[in-house]
Amino acid sequence: MQGLNFDLTEEHRAVQEAARDFAEKELLHDAIERDTHSVFPEKQVKMMGELGFMGMMVPEEFGGGGMDTISYVLALEEIAKVDASAAVIMSVNNSLVCWGIEKYGTQAQKEKYLKPLASGEKLGCFCLSEPEAGSDATSQRTTAIDNGDHYLVNGTKNWITNGGSSDIALVIAQTDIEKGHRGINALIIEKETEGFVVGKKEDKMGIRSSDTHSLMLSDCRVSKENRLGEEGFGFKFAMGTLDGGRIGIAAQALGIASGAFERAVSYSKERKAFGKEISQHQAIQFKLADMRTRIEAARLLIYKAAFEKDQGRPYSEAAAMAKVYASEVAMWVTTQAVQIHGGYGYVKEYHVERMMRDAKITEIYEGTSEIQRLVIAREVLK
Ligand code: CAA
Repeated sequence: MQGLNFDLTEEHRAVQEAARDFAEKELLHDAIERDTHSVFPEKQVKMMGELGFMGMMVPEEFGGGGMDTISYVLALEEIAKVDASAAVIMSVNNSLVCWGIEKYGTQAQKEKYLKPLASGEKLGCFCLSEPEAGSDATSQRTTAIDNGDHYLVNGTKNWITNGGSSDIALVIAQTDIEKGHRGINALIIEKETEGFVVGKKEDKMGIRSSDTHSLMLSDCRVSKENRLGEEGFGFKFAMGTLDGGRIGIAAQALGIASGAFERAVSYSKERKAFGKEISQHQAIQFKLADMRTRIEAARLLIYKAAFEKDQGRPYSEAAAMAKVYASEVAMWVTTQAVQIHGGYGYVKEYHVERMMRDAKITEIYEGTSEIQRLVIAREVLK
């Protein structure tokens, strides 16, 4: 009888090592520069595609890596340890775009869109949020009017990760307002579609080298062949897709926390105060112990959520628990890492100030911490 097993397989370790190696060789040296000037890591994203990190869970027949969710989490953690911006670019393409098409797309949609997205040849974005529809995602103002063989799409989408760099957008829009959330559709829209305009780039606190834009859709003609799922399935499509996305963001948060923790440990062994390394002071040891414990707890929640997903079991609640906990751990751990670094923590050179800024978004996107608690509480009270 097989019991609980916390060991990673050889394949998992190989993925972890490949991601770590890539992050240290290709992302680390310019991470501060990219953050300072908000530069999208175009070259590195291409390389991530070549290494198979952009469509990790997509079956090989559609250009992906055919890997499990644990492998995906391991790779994301290693990349986020060094550069959380690169991690979110990867996470959105994998969890929200590729997974959504793989799970709900037609064979033709998979051939046409999933293959280039999973192989990293193209990049995707997921467009749910609007100026007045963030947490309250059913209040979609973007419309997709049924016009026979196509929809006519009009509206504005906000806070779109990969918005300026994507070739393909998954857009959620309201077709029949009378039907509420059951009148919403999810559509695949190509960047070249007439009326598709990339708007303002946001000047953000953190994850500054990921590019976040608003998108304007004005009389975009989208063939019905590009609808994901049945008519009216768009809201459930978005919710189902976000469940997996939340595991990705939890892994990103875990990476940010682990990266800041490793830097805090190293610094505490180098820096001397009151005649000894600061790691020899109990005030620092207690911090390091608490940081380590919370990171490990977050890791276990994330692995559990990934495991449930891989087993084909329901995982909305597990993903919400992993995301809310890991994001709050990331915020807390990075704050402690800055504190351990003292004045050096407050300047760019030591990376931890960037990590602290990057951590904050994990408590906001793909559902705020309050939304995750709502999802968990609903399960509790069912
Ligand atoms: N999977 C499938 N279906 C689901 C679901 C899920 N996880 N959750 C809800 N649904 C279904 C429900 O069953 C219901 O269907 P029926 O009426 O047919 O039973 C329908 O969806 C509506 O559900 P609710 O009544 O629960 O909807 P609600 O209005 O109360 O909202 C919510 C629920 C959890 C608050 C949801 O609106 C939500 O998650 N909001 C946050 C949105 C979000 O995460 N936005 C992130 C933007 S994307 C992003 O950040 C990406 C990026 O760029 C990084």
